[in-house]
Amino acid sequence: MQRFRRLRKNETIRSMMRETRLHPADFIYPIFVIEGENIKNPVASMPGVFQYSIDRLGEIMEEVKASGISGVLLFGIPACKDEMGSQAYARDGITQRAVAYIKKNYPDIYCIVDVCLCEYTSHGHCGVVKDGKILNDETLPLLSAMSVTLAEAGADMIAPSDMMDGRVAAIREALDENGFTDIPIMAYSAKFASTYYGPFRDAAHSAPGFGDRKSYQMDFANGQEALREIYSDIQEGADVVMVKPGLAYLDVLKEAAMTVSLPLAVYNVSGEYSMVKAAAANGWIDERRIVTENLTAMKRAGAKIIITYHALDMAKWLAESN
Ligand code: PBG
Ligand code: ZN
Repeated sequence: MQRFRRLRKNETIRSMMRETRLHPADFIYPIFVIEGENIKNPVASMPGVFQYSIDRLGEIMEEVKASGISGVLLFGIPACKDEMGSQAYARDGITQRAVAYIKKNYPDIYCIVDVCLCEYTSHGHCGVVKDGKILNDETLPLLSAMSVTLAEAGADMIAPSDMMDGRVAAIREALDENGFTDIPIMAYSAKFASTYYGPFRDAAHSAPGFGDRKSYQMDFANGQEALREIYSDIQEGADVVMVKPGLAYLDVLKEAAMTVSLPLAVYNVSGEYSMVKAAAANGWIDERRIVTENLTAMKRAGAKIIITYHALDMAKWLAESN
């Protein structure tokens, strides 16, 4: 008889046989920066997550620094929104200033910035809107301008999440033309139109004012198309490609890992986080164990970079178990 249990006898042998191990360096922590002063706003639908004004960003950045994780993913929330999302690509925009603050005070923390218009547009869509339609090609120069101003502010990596076609090529060209040939692009390549983003839209004030995002984000029924999106972003010059959300899309992540040789990122999104937090708060599941299981599954499926709101907790738990 094949006795698999021989290698499961005790924790020592299990640890020897373990194929996947989490490390703080695997994690990127999303941070919400809001215009204003002396703000640390709790996000109601995401317990433990806050919006910070720049003057209080240091509080969370100290925690990031102490945790040993690799870096942060920034989302800016401007004071004023307009049709064209002009604060997204303003040199003195909230996000540009937050990047500059972080790079000045925490130069060793890798600073990735989410590039999209939805937090900055009055209609809440990720692109330029005309007659109720989200225009693709008209959006590309705005995303490019946003990327260049963020690179000028000191961003280490640009992460477009808008899902317009051709944006990776457009952003790459704009970065190169402006001398930022060394700034990598992490493309949200297989990004699905997902109900799991619900809590994030509270956190980032970015819910669409009309309709939904289904004309640009992917249909969650499609796995083949996800691979086409990934291949296409690689061709356009992406350095890292992402699958998002994580848990319900591990098949997509795994398939990408088997066919693509670029580093893969996964986004363990807000809804995944909030479901865990809600169940844990009710005493229905053990938070530490379930988070460890979820994040290990993402790494096992092939993720090199795990973007997660659990990053700081997980890093702490890993340090405790050493
Ligand atoms: C902006 C953006 C979203 C997320 C990351 N960037 C929301 C959306 O597309 O509606 C989702 C992150 C999360 O749910 O944690 N386009
Ligand atoms: Zn968006």
